[in-house]
Amino acid sequence: MSKKSAYITGASSGIGEAFAFSLADNYNLVLIARNELKLQQIAKELRNKTEVEIILADLSTPEGIGKITSLLESDPELDLFVNNAAYGSMGNFVDREIEEEVNQLQLNVMAVVRLSHAVLKNYHSRKHTGNLINVASMVGFFPTPTSVIYGASKAFVKNFSESLHEENKPFGITVQVLCPGFTRTEFQDRAGFQKENLPDFVWMDSKAVVEESLNSLKKQEAVCIPGVLNRSTATIVDMIPGEILRILSGFVVKK
Ligand SMILES: NC(=O)c1ccc[n+]([C@@H]2O[C@H](COP(=O)([O-])OP(=O)(O)OC[C@H]3O[C@@H](n4cnc5c(N)ncnc54)[C@H](OP(=O)(O)O)[C@@H]3O)[C@@H](O)[C@H]2O)c1
Repeated sequence: MSKKSAYITGASSGIGEAFAFSLADNYNLVLIARNELKLQQIAKELRNKTEVEIILADLSTPEGIGKITSLLESDPELDLFVNNAAYGSMGNFVDREIEEEVNQLQLNVMAVVRLSHAVLKNYHSRKHTGNLINVASMVGFFPTPTSVIYGASKAFVKNFSESLHEENKPFGITVQVLCPGFTRTEFQDRAGFQKENLPDFVWMDSKAVVEESLNSLKKQEAVCIPGVLNRSTATIVDMIPGEILRILSGFVVKK
């Protein structure tokens, strides 16, 4: 029997790369990002385990998204899609370059919406009980002054994915929203986030995040918050009055 396929966006580093390594035993892989050299290096390491196709696509553009949606229309082996590519930015909204912020929304939100739609169309047309993981963030649980667009984009992905989970559960399709906290990747450097100010114990590594996500997927859970600290934070955040939460979250994000 031929292996099923898993697609991973943002597979050239961090959490996406960790998904690629974890899934290689059980899936043929389609790895998507912009950095060809890094994708080639990852593919080279994995090709002794499985078939790996790499696709160069800028998912903040309609052309980049279109490349992937047209593949999804006709892939009879699709079983798992991981919407992982995203980036963040720091600074007061008013001081940010608006085109850059809108570009961030295109990737973090519009690509996730369009690709989720194409994936679910594929599963429903084949009556296939496949899986979709959308990567949000702990910042989707609270306001994020000085990272306004990023926080709002992740709150969208969280709400969107939980709703999709409920809609698709009756068809045996699992939609998971993965909400990592601080994870050691290239993310903070790209976003201009001062990671040196944070203590060691708040950090997870990508491999541990992915392991928890895939275990949670086996249990068909809607929300995966990896790490005890992140789960406790999410519980506490739920109990904090909004006004205090806004002030506290501003302090943490600015730090
Ligand atoms: N690290 C954290 O602390 C943390 C916490 C919570 C949530 N997250 C979420 O985890 C996910 C993965 O981030 P990460 O931490 O692994 O960061 P990362 O190391 O910076 O990886 C981001 C990935 O997204 C790809 N990407 C960026 N812009 C793209 C574009 N326009 N088109 C296609 N691909 C693009 C990058 O590849 P190319 O540059 O090659 O395109 C890279 O593979 C994101 O959704 C992020 O929001 C991260």
